[in-house]
Amino acid sequence: MQTASAVFLGIDVGTSACKVVAVDGTGRTLGVASRAYLLSNPQHGWSEQDPQDWWVAAGEGVREVCSMLAGRSTEVKGIGLSGQMHGLVALDASGAVIRPAILWNDQRCERQCEELTARIGGLGVVVGQTRNRMLTGFTVGKIQWVKENEPENFDRFHRVMNPKDYLRWRMNGEFITDVSDASGTGLFNVASREWSEPMVKSVGLTLDMLPRVVESTASTGQLLPQVAQDWGLGAGIDVFAGGGDAVIQTLSMGILRPGDIGVTVGTAGIVAAASTFCPENDEANVQVSCYNEPDRWHVMGVSLSAAGSLQWLRETLNGLAGVGEVTFEALMDAAAAAPPGCEGLMFLPYLDGERSPHYAPSSSAAWVGLTRVHGLGHLVRSVVEGVLLNMRQILDSFAARGLPCDRIIASGGATRDDLWLQTMADIFGQDVITLQNSSEGAAFGAAVVAGVGSGQWASFEEFFGHLPAQDEYHPDPERVAVYSRVFEGHRKLFDHLAPVYEDVRMARAGD
Ligand code: XUL
Repeated sequence: MQTASAVFLGIDVGTSACKVVAVDGTGRTLGVASRAYLLSNPQHGWSEQDPQDWWVAAGEGVREVCSMLAGRSTEVKGIGLSGQMHGLVALDASGAVIRPAILWNDQRCERQCEELTARIGGLGVVVGQTRNRMLTGFTVGKIQWVKENEPENFDRFHRVMNPKDYLRWRMNGEFITDVSDASGTGLFNVASREWSEPMVKSVGLTLDMLPRVVESTASTGQLLPQVAQDWGLGAGIDVFAGGGDAVIQTLSMGILRPGDIGVTVGTAGIVAAASTFCPENDEANVQVSCYNEPDRWHVMGVSLSAAGSLQWLRETLNGLAGVGEVTFEALMDAAAAAPPGCEGLMFLPYLDGERSPHYAPSSSAAWVGLTRVHGLGHLVRSVVEGVLLNMRQILDSFAARGLPCDRIIASGGATRDDLWLQTMADIFGQDVITLQNSSEGAAFGAAVVAGVGSGQWASFEEFFGHLPAQDEYHPDPERVAVYSRVFEGHRKLFDHLAPVYEDVRMARAGD
């Protein structure tokens, strides 16, 4: 039922902060609040958080947003949840958290993932069950790690859940997740949208230790009266299932129909699409999840170091004695003065290894083709080009899976810069648009899920059909011709360098 005064809250449990957004019945953002919390790295490669910190941050964020609404004739009608995916939160029989949550970026369980994959029958069987490779980020390897290394904790496991579902547990006492977050556990059959019993059994869990799974727009019950009172909200507010942040971020860009591709250039680079079928993933070089609508799937290729490569270059230059602060603006000005194609200089952006287009954790970055004609502008421009040429391979692998591209919707920090966006249009050979109103990302998407779930908008199509474009970039035919030549050479670099990566890794290990 449509109400102009209705307000929907989106709560996103991020890695560095919890963000709360209030969106009104016309889709306008009325207020945003964010509360940071600590990330703990007790050992190299470990990454943990205290779920209680999320809970405190969410409450403070909601109260702040509610104070922004005071004086307006609005009424909060629903809350949608989003959160960092893959994290392991384990509760004992009394509902207490057993140990700090192990997060998506924790790398401790590489051996467990390899051994579990072999024990289950190899990569083909794991992909057959879950449509994904068992990434170290996924929940399943973390469970196995606790089982092997902290048996006293594992024996107390009664309920296992992802971060945003811990908030729900505290908000309405329900043990429920949504299909998109479940997809990132490594325990879920993404094609049939249900837990995979063989995967669940493989780590010694039973189905009753996992949350009930519902579609993202389903109501999961009302906020507990005590919580509503503490947060300054009225009675009877529905909490909607929501979704994993990486998936809901795509939704917040309005990616719904075949042909629309979302490209996010932040620290990592993400190419994402919505699909009406569950795509194959034999090479397991992309992540396939259920999308936030029934009968839709989400495909995502994550390149680990996108704008992060440029950030590395800037920090490296900043470290030079006698050089003042090097701004991104100065770097981008230098890049704009270098010619497209950088006179043969190519950059491979594998500073953090790579997930997509190649699953290659031990690959490393490289400049190839460096000569005396090249200056700083070439170095910077080749980083921008190298990141986007690499992401174009992800796009091409989407096309090979039957996921076409008619236009790109871009988001992320780097998209504040014209050179990034124009080069994206030229390298991808497609129109690129940016959208107004989607800057709050996953939290905004979670509020929209609550709005659709409660019937304020009949569908995501209805809501996003009205979102206006902010800027448009069109491919320039001359530069497109240059980049299609460069792309062929750049694409082959990974294969040429693959045998070298092992030598590089050995040399590093011998340091
Ligand atoms: C998605 C992923 C991250 C986390 C944290 O696969 O690893 O996006 O969800 O934001």
